Amino acid sequence: MKRVYNFSAGPACMPEWVLEKAAGEMLNYNNTGMSVMEMSHRSADYQAIIDTAEARLRRLMNIPDDYTVLFLQGGGSLQFTMVPLNLMTKKADVINTGQWTKKAIAEHKKLGEVNVVASSAEDTFSYIPKIKQEDLSEDSDYVYICENNTIYGTKYKELPPHEGKMLVADLSSCILSEPIDVTKYDLIFAGAQKNLGPAGVTIVILKNELLDIADQDKLPSMLSYKVHAKNGSMFNTPPTYAIYMVGLTFQWLEEVIGGVEEMQKINLKKAKMLYDYIDSSKLFANNVAKEDRSYMNVPFVTGDPELDKKFVAEAKEAGIVNIKGHRSVGGMRASIYNAMPIEGVEALIDFMKKFEKENGE
Ligand SMILES: Cc1ncc(COP(=O)(O)O)c(C=O)c1O
Repeated sequence: MKRVYNFSAGPACMPEWVLEKAAGEMLNYNNTGMSVMEMSHRSADYQAIIDTAEARLRRLMNIPDDYTVLFLQGGGSLQFTMVPLNLMTKKADVINTGQWTKKAIAEHKKLGEVNVVASSAEDTFSYIPKIKQEDLSEDSDYVYICENNTIYGTKYKELPPHEGKMLVADLSSCILSEPIDVTKYDLIFAGAQKNLGPAGVTIVILKNELLDIADQDKLPSMLSYKVHAKNGSMFNTPPTYAIYMVGLTFQWLEEVIGGVEEMQKINLKKAKMLYDYIDSSKLFANNVAKEDRSYMNVPFVTGDPELDKKFVAEAKEAGIVNIKGHRSVGGMRASIYNAMPIEGVEALIDFMKKFEKENGE
Protein backbone atom coordinates (compact mmCIF):
# COMPACT_ATOMS: atom_id res chain seq x y z
CA MET A 1 0.00 0.00 0.00
CA LYS A 2 1.33 3.42 -0.93
CA ARG A 3 0.06 6.47 0.93
CA VAL A 4 0.08 9.82 -0.83
CA TYR A 5 1.18 13.20 0.46
CA ASN A 6 -2.16 14.87 1.07
CA PHE A 7 -1.97 18.66 1.10
CA SER A 8 -5.71 19.14 1.62
CA ALA A 9 -6.88 22.17 3.60
CA GLY A 10 -9.35 20.01 5.48
CA PRO A 11 -10.36 17.37 6.19
CA ALA A 12 -6.61 16.99 6.13
CA CYS A 13 -3.94 14.36 6.55
CA MET A 14 -3.58 12.84 10.00
CA PRO A 15 -0.49 11.44 11.74
CA GLU A 16 0.11 7.84 10.66
CA TRP A 17 0.81 7.03 14.31
CA VAL A 18 -2.78 8.06 15.14
CA LEU A 19 -4.30 6.13 12.25
CA GLU A 20 -2.33 2.99 13.11
CA LYS A 21 -3.22 3.17 16.79
CA ALA A 22 -6.90 3.64 15.92
CA ALA A 23 -6.70 0.72 13.48
CA GLY A 24 -5.16 -1.49 16.17
CA GLU A 25 -7.92 -0.56 18.61
CA MET A 26 -10.74 -0.71 16.08
CA LEU A 27 -12.31 -4.07 16.90
CA ASN A 28 -11.56 -4.32 20.60
CA TYR A 29 -10.84 -1.11 22.46
CA ASN A 30 -9.06 -1.63 25.76
CA ASN A 31 -10.46 -5.16 26.13
CA THR A 32 -14.05 -3.94 26.04
CA GLY A 33 -14.78 -6.31 23.15
CA MET A 34 -16.10 -3.45 21.04
CA SER A 35 -14.92 -0.45 19.05
CA VAL A 36 -15.12 3.08 20.46
CA MET A 37 -17.85 3.75 17.86
CA GLU A 38 -20.10 1.14 19.44
CA MET A 39 -19.62 2.33 23.00
CA SER A 40 -22.19 4.21 25.10
CA HIS A 41 -21.09 7.76 25.74
CA ARG A 42 -22.32 7.18 29.31
CA SER A 43 -19.93 4.26 29.90
CA ALA A 44 -16.91 4.51 32.20
CA ASP A 45 -14.64 3.55 29.30
CA TYR A 46 -15.89 6.45 27.19
CA GLN A 47 -15.79 8.89 30.09
CA ALA A 48 -12.10 8.04 30.47
CA ILE A 49 -11.54 8.77 26.75
CA ILE A 50 -13.06 12.26 26.85
CA ASP A 51 -11.50 13.10 30.22
CA THR A 52 -8.06 12.04 29.02
CA ALA A 53 -8.48 14.06 25.81
CA GLU A 54 -9.38 17.18 27.79
CA ALA A 55 -6.52 16.68 30.27
CA ARG A 56 -4.03 16.29 27.41
CA LEU A 57 -5.31 19.42 25.65
CA ARG A 58 -5.08 21.38 28.91
CA ARG A 59 -1.46 20.28 29.34
CA LEU A 60 -0.53 20.92 25.71
CA MET A 61 -2.01 24.42 25.64
CA ASN A 62 -1.44 25.31 29.30
CA ILE A 63 -5.14 26.05 29.71
CA PRO A 64 -5.80 27.63 33.13
CA ASP A 65 -8.49 26.27 35.47
CA ASP A 66 -10.72 29.29 34.97
CA TYR A 67 -11.26 28.25 31.35
CA THR A 68 -13.79 25.65 30.19
CA VAL A 69 -13.01 23.18 27.40
CA LEU A 70 -15.93 21.98 25.27
CA PHE A 71 -16.19 19.33 22.56
CA LEU A 72 -19.08 20.47 20.36
CA GLN A 73 -20.65 19.76 16.97
CA GLY A 74 -21.61 22.00 14.05
CA GLY A 75 -18.08 22.81 12.90
CA GLY A 76 -16.40 26.19 12.93
CA SER A 77 -19.50 27.49 11.13
CA LEU A 78 -21.84 26.99 14.09
CA GLN A 79 -19.46 29.10 16.18
CA PHE A 80 -20.21 32.04 13.86
CA THR A 81 -23.68 31.87 15.48
CA MET A 82 -22.90 30.54 18.97
CA VAL A 83 -20.33 33.25 19.69
CA PRO A 84 -22.74 36.18 19.20
CA LEU A 85 -25.66 34.31 20.78
CA ASN A 86 -23.65 33.70 23.94
CA LEU A 87 -21.36 36.73 24.16
CA MET A 88 -22.84 39.67 22.27
CA THR A 89 -24.97 42.09 24.25
CA LYS A 90 -24.55 45.13 21.97
CA LYS A 91 -22.06 44.91 19.21
CA ALA A 92 -19.09 43.00 17.80
CA ASP A 93 -15.92 44.40 16.23
CA VAL A 94 -14.77 42.07 13.46
CA ILE A 95 -11.58 42.28 11.41
CA ASN A 96 -12.33 40.97 7.94
CA THR A 97 -9.48 38.82 6.65
CA GLY A 98 -11.28 36.48 4.27
CA GLN A 99 -14.04 33.99 3.64
CA TRP A 100 -14.30 32.79 7.25
CA THR A 101 -14.66 36.22 8.79
CA LYS A 102 -17.07 37.22 6.00
CA LYS A 103 -19.25 34.29 6.99
CA ALA A 104 -18.93 35.17 10.68
CA ILE A 105 -19.93 38.77 9.90
CA ALA A 106 -23.00 37.56 7.98
CA GLU A 107 -24.14 35.39 10.89
CA HIS A 108 -23.46 38.12 13.45
CA LYS A 109 -25.61 40.53 11.42
CA LYS A 110 -28.61 38.27 11.87
CA LEU A 111 -28.28 38.62 15.63
CA GLY A 112 -27.06 42.16 16.25
CA GLU A 113 -24.78 44.95 15.23
CA VAL A 114 -21.38 44.42 13.64
CA ASN A 115 -18.59 46.90 13.07
CA VAL A 116 -16.12 45.76 10.42
CA VAL A 117 -13.08 47.45 11.95
CA ALA A 118 -10.77 46.81 9.00
CA SER A 119 -10.64 44.63 5.92
CA SER A 120 -8.05 43.49 3.41
CA ALA A 121 -10.75 42.57 0.85
CA GLU A 122 -9.58 45.25 -1.61
CA ASP A 123 -6.25 43.43 -1.92
CA THR A 124 -7.62 39.86 -2.17
CA PHE A 125 -7.01 39.39 1.56
CA SER A 126 -3.28 39.15 0.98
CA TYR A 127 -2.37 40.81 4.28
CA ILE A 128 -3.58 41.26 7.86
CA PRO A 129 -4.87 44.79 8.47
CA LYS A 130 -3.15 46.38 11.47
CA ILE A 131 -5.61 48.17 13.72
CA LYS A 132 -5.33 50.52 16.68
CA GLN A 133 -7.37 50.59 19.87
CA GLU A 134 -9.11 53.78 18.70
CA ASP A 135 -10.41 51.98 15.60
CA LEU A 136 -12.65 49.83 17.81
CA SER A 137 -16.25 50.73 18.64
CA GLU A 138 -16.77 52.21 22.05
CA ASP A 139 -19.61 49.88 22.91
CA SER A 140 -18.50 46.58 21.38
CA ASP A 141 -18.41 43.45 23.52
CA TYR A 142 -15.53 41.78 21.73
CA VAL A 143 -13.02 41.86 18.93
CA TYR A 144 -13.35 38.87 16.61
CA ILE A 145 -10.51 37.55 14.44
CA CYS A 146 -9.66 34.54 12.32
CA GLU A 147 -6.07 33.93 13.40
CA ASN A 148 -4.99 31.86 10.40
CA ASN A 149 -6.76 32.37 7.10
CA THR A 150 -6.91 28.95 5.52
CA ILE A 151 -7.82 30.12 2.02
CA TYR A 152 -5.57 33.17 1.61
CA GLY A 153 -2.60 31.92 3.63
CA THR A 154 -2.28 34.82 6.07
CA LYS A 155 -1.73 34.70 9.82
CA TYR A 156 -1.74 37.12 12.73
CA LYS A 157 1.77 37.22 14.21
CA GLU A 158 0.54 39.62 16.89
CA LEU A 159 -2.93 39.85 18.37
CA PRO A 160 -4.86 43.09 17.73
CA PRO A 161 -5.42 45.57 20.58
CA HIS A 162 -8.66 44.93 22.45
CA GLU A 163 -8.43 46.79 25.72
CA GLY A 164 -11.65 46.60 27.72
CA LYS A 165 -13.11 44.06 25.30
CA MET A 166 -13.11 40.32 24.96
CA LEU A 167 -11.00 38.68 22.26
CA VAL A 168 -12.60 35.88 20.25
CA ALA A 169 -10.42 33.92 17.83
CA ASP A 170 -11.09 31.28 15.21
CA LEU A 171 -8.06 28.98 15.39
CA SER A 172 -9.52 26.28 13.14
CA SER A 173 -6.45 26.10 10.91
CA CYS A 174 -3.65 26.80 13.40
CA ILE A 175 -4.58 25.39 16.79
CA LEU A 176 -1.69 23.48 18.41
CA SER A 177 0.69 24.45 15.60
CA GLU A 178 2.62 26.73 17.97
CA PRO A 179 2.48 27.64 21.65
CA ILE A 180 0.01 30.40 22.48
CA ASP A 181 -0.86 32.22 25.68
CA VAL A 182 -4.48 31.18 26.23
CA THR A 183 -4.96 33.90 28.86
CA LYS A 184 -4.71 36.51 26.09
CA TYR A 185 -7.96 35.19 24.62
CA ASP A 186 -11.46 35.05 26.03
CA LEU A 187 -12.77 32.46 23.61
CA ILE A 188 -10.98 30.23 21.13
CA PHE A 189 -12.66 27.80 18.79
CA ALA A 190 -11.38 25.35 16.22
CA GLY A 191 -12.99 22.74 14.01
CA ALA A 192 -10.96 19.53 14.27
CA GLN A 193 -10.54 18.55 10.64
CA LYS A 194 -7.32 20.45 9.97
CA ASN A 195 -4.92 20.13 12.87
CA LEU A 196 -6.72 17.88 15.33
CA GLY A 197 -8.39 14.90 13.69
CA PRO A 198 -11.48 14.01 11.70
CA ALA A 199 -14.39 16.35 10.99
CA GLY A 200 -17.28 16.25 13.41
CA VAL A 201 -15.95 17.82 16.58
CA THR A 202 -15.21 21.47 17.35
CA ILE A 203 -13.12 22.51 20.31
CA VAL A 204 -14.21 25.60 22.23
CA ILE A 205 -12.05 27.03 25.01
CA LEU A 206 -13.60 29.90 26.94
CA LYS A 207 -13.27 31.80 30.19
CA ASN A 208 -15.70 30.43 32.76
CA GLU A 209 -17.15 33.87 33.47
CA LEU A 210 -18.39 34.11 29.87
CA LEU A 211 -20.87 31.34 30.55
CA ASP A 212 -23.08 33.78 32.44
CA ILE A 213 -23.37 36.59 29.89
CA ALA A 214 -26.40 35.31 27.98
CA ASP A 215 -29.92 34.94 29.33
CA GLN A 216 -30.19 31.17 29.49
CA ASP A 217 -34.01 31.22 29.42
CA LYS A 218 -33.91 32.63 25.91
CA LEU A 219 -31.04 30.59 24.55
CA PRO A 220 -31.79 27.28 22.76
CA SER A 221 -30.12 24.60 24.91
CA MET A 222 -27.98 23.14 22.13
CA LEU A 223 -26.61 26.63 21.37
CA SER A 224 -25.69 27.45 24.96
CA TYR A 225 -22.07 27.10 26.06
CA LYS A 226 -23.33 26.94 29.65
CA VAL A 227 -25.56 23.95 28.95
CA HIS A 228 -22.69 22.08 27.29
CA ALA A 229 -20.30 23.06 30.09
CA LYS A 230 -22.69 21.90 32.81
CA ASN A 231 -23.06 18.56 31.04
CA GLY A 232 -19.37 17.93 30.37
CA SER A 233 -19.96 18.20 26.59
CA MET A 234 -22.54 15.40 26.89
CA PHE A 235 -25.84 17.29 26.89
CA ASN A 236 -26.62 15.12 23.89
CA THR A 237 -24.68 12.29 22.30
CA PRO A 238 -21.31 13.81 21.42
CA PRO A 239 -19.33 12.85 18.29
CA THR A 240 -17.73 10.04 20.26
CA TYR A 241 -15.35 8.64 17.66
CA ALA A 242 -14.12 12.05 16.50
CA ILE A 243 -13.35 12.98 20.12
CA TYR A 244 -11.45 9.71 20.56
CA MET A 245 -9.39 10.44 17.41
CA VAL A 246 -8.67 13.98 18.54
CA GLY A 247 -7.54 12.51 21.88
CA LEU A 248 -5.11 10.23 20.02
CA THR A 249 -3.74 13.26 18.15
CA PHE A 250 -3.14 14.96 21.51
CA GLN A 251 -1.34 11.82 22.69
CA TRP A 252 0.82 11.85 19.53
CA LEU A 253 1.67 15.51 20.10
CA GLU A 254 2.65 14.86 23.71
CA GLU A 255 4.40 11.51 23.45
CA VAL A 256 5.75 11.28 19.91
CA ILE A 257 6.42 14.93 19.01
CA GLY A 258 7.19 16.08 22.54
CA GLY A 259 4.78 18.99 22.88
CA VAL A 260 3.75 22.12 21.07
CA GLU A 261 7.17 23.85 21.24
CA GLU A 262 8.67 20.89 19.35
CA MET A 263 5.75 20.91 16.91
CA GLN A 264 6.35 24.60 16.22
CA LYS A 265 10.03 23.93 15.38
CA ILE A 266 9.01 21.34 12.81
CA ASN A 267 6.28 23.61 11.40
CA LEU A 268 8.63 26.57 11.04
CA LYS A 269 11.16 24.37 9.30
CA LYS A 270 8.58 23.07 6.82
CA ALA A 271 7.19 26.56 6.09
CA LYS A 272 10.66 28.09 5.69
CA MET A 273 11.75 25.37 3.24
CA LEU A 274 8.68 25.93 1.09
CA TYR A 275 8.66 29.75 1.15
CA ASP A 276 12.42 29.88 0.53
CA TYR A 277 12.03 27.76 -2.56
CA ILE A 278 9.01 29.73 -3.83
CA ASP A 279 10.87 33.02 -3.29
CA SER A 280 13.86 31.73 -5.24
CA SER A 281 11.73 30.31 -8.04
CA LYS A 282 11.22 32.07 -11.34
CA LEU A 283 8.01 30.19 -12.03
CA PHE A 284 6.11 30.13 -8.73
CA ALA A 285 5.03 33.06 -6.55
CA ASN A 286 3.30 33.53 -3.22
CA ASN A 287 1.46 36.85 -3.20
CA VAL A 288 0.97 37.27 0.54
CA ALA A 289 2.66 40.07 2.53
CA LYS A 290 5.80 38.36 3.86
CA GLU A 291 5.26 39.39 7.49
CA ASP A 292 1.74 37.93 7.45
CA ARG A 293 2.50 34.58 5.82
CA SER A 294 0.79 31.53 7.29
CA TYR A 295 2.85 28.58 8.53
CA MET A 296 -0.03 26.20 7.77
CA ASN A 297 -1.48 27.15 4.37
CA VAL A 298 0.84 28.19 1.57
CA PRO A 299 -0.89 29.41 -1.61
CA PHE A 300 1.17 29.79 -4.78
CA VAL A 301 0.62 30.43 -8.48
CA THR A 302 2.48 30.25 -11.75
CA GLY A 303 0.54 33.21 -13.13
CA ASP A 304 -0.90 31.04 -15.91
CA PRO A 305 -4.15 29.20 -15.01
CA GLU A 306 -3.47 26.53 -17.66
CA LEU A 307 -0.04 25.83 -16.21
CA ASP A 308 -1.55 25.72 -12.71
CA LYS A 309 -3.97 23.07 -13.94
CA LYS A 310 -1.12 21.06 -15.44
CA PHE A 311 0.80 21.33 -12.16
CA VAL A 312 -2.14 20.00 -10.14
CA ALA A 313 -2.66 17.09 -12.54
CA GLU A 314 1.01 16.08 -12.73
CA ALA A 315 1.46 16.48 -8.98
CA LYS A 316 -1.34 13.99 -8.46
CA GLU A 317 0.44 11.50 -10.71
CA ALA A 318 3.48 11.96 -8.46
CA GLY A 319 1.51 11.19 -5.28
CA ILE A 320 1.09 14.84 -4.23
CA VAL A 321 -2.65 15.34 -3.92
CA ASN A 322 -5.23 18.00 -3.04
CA ILE A 323 -2.85 20.79 -3.93
CA LYS A 324 -5.38 22.82 -5.92
CA GLY A 325 -6.09 26.28 -4.50
CA HIS A 326 -9.50 27.21 -3.08
CA ARG A 327 -12.07 27.79 -5.82
CA SER A 328 -12.29 31.47 -4.85
CA VAL A 329 -8.58 32.17 -5.47
CA GLY A 330 -7.38 29.51 -7.92
CA GLY A 331 -3.74 28.45 -8.29
CA MET A 332 -2.31 26.01 -5.76
CA ARG A 333 -2.29 25.75 -2.00
CA ALA A 334 -0.16 23.46 0.12
CA SER A 335 -1.68 22.92 3.54
CA ILE A 336 1.17 21.81 5.75
CA TYR A 337 -0.56 21.16 9.06
CA ASN A 338 1.06 19.39 12.02
CA ALA A 339 0.53 15.96 10.50
CA MET A 340 2.33 16.72 7.22
CA PRO A 341 5.81 15.25 7.65
CA ILE A 342 8.94 17.11 6.57
CA GLU A 343 9.42 14.41 3.91
CA GLY A 344 6.09 15.48 2.36
CA VAL A 345 7.25 19.07 2.01
CA GLU A 346 10.59 17.87 0.60
CA ALA A 347 8.74 15.75 -1.94
CA LEU A 348 6.60 18.74 -2.92
CA ILE A 349 9.63 21.02 -3.36
CA ASP A 350 11.44 18.36 -5.43
CA PHE A 351 8.38 18.05 -7.62
CA MET A 352 8.07 21.86 -7.99
CA LYS A 353 11.74 22.07 -9.01
CA LYS A 354 11.26 19.40 -11.63
CA PHE A 355 8.11 21.10 -12.91
CA GLU A 356 9.89 24.44 -13.09
CA LYS A 357 12.73 22.92 -15.07
CA GLU A 358 10.32 21.36 -17.55
CA ASN A 359 7.91 24.31 -17.84
CA GLY A 360 9.85 27.43 -16.89
CA GLU A 361 11.21 29.79 -19.49
C1 LIG B 1 -10.49 29.23 9.62
C2 LIG B 1 -11.77 28.47 9.38
N1 LIG B 1 -12.85 28.75 10.13
C3 LIG B 1 -14.01 28.10 9.95
C4 LIG B 1 -14.15 27.13 8.99
C5 LIG B 1 -15.48 26.45 8.82
O1 LIG B 1 -15.41 25.20 9.39
P1 LIG B 1 -16.56 24.10 9.23
O2 LIG B 1 -16.56 23.66 7.83
O3 LIG B 1 -16.10 23.06 10.21
O4 LIG B 1 -17.84 24.72 9.65
C6 LIG B 1 -13.05 26.79 8.20
C7 LIG B 1 -13.16 25.72 7.20
O5 LIG B 1 -12.32 25.46 6.39
C8 LIG B 1 -11.83 27.49 8.40
O6 LIG B 1 -10.75 27.22 7.64
